[in-house]
Amino acid sequence: MTDVTLKINGETRSASVPPETTLLKLLREQFNLTGAKLGCDVGDCGACTVMVDGVSVNSCLMLAGQADGREVLTIEGLATPDRLHPIQQAFEDCASLQCGFCGPGVIMSAKALLDANPDPAVAEIRDALAGNLCRCTGYTKMIEAVQEAAKVMRGAGARRGAKPARAA
Ligand code: FES
Ligand code: FES
Repeated sequence: MTDVTLKINGETRSASVPPETTLLKLLREQFNLTGAKLGCDVGDCGACTVMVDGVSVNSCLMLAGQADGREVLTIEGLATPDRLHPIQQAFEDCASLQCGFCGPGVIMSAKALLDANPDPAVAEIRDALAGNLCRCTGYTKMIEAVQEAAKVMRGAGARRGAKPARAA
């Protein structure tokens, strides 16, 4: 067994897991953080995207043991009890998702992008989301949402007609 202690969404968590356990499996099965999804399990779809030490990763490709001592942010760590994160709010306002399965991964990729680049060009947004596959949408509204979130996060104001943030 491998002993793992890591910080997840600001909280220190520990587990003892078989060495082949992925970070995705650790999150979902040990800690009941089921926002990151198991899609392809081979690094193709991005449904399992989380951030590790500030960088987006496919958690299906990282072993739990490799995350030992590191800081992990999952979709569950974005909203506060009374307010969605601006990226989540923008995805809702722009109606960017349909079934939603890809959503947590897309939003975590967008978060990693906007943390590093607060005012990305459309091409940079497309590039940042290139590893996140969506079977339902045409991606256009996702890109619009990332642009809107970027504006809000820069303090440049919300999109005209956007609904006020509501409780998660
Ligand atoms: Fe990890 Fe598809 S489940 S990339
Ligand atoms: Fe269904 Fe993206 S909204 S897979």
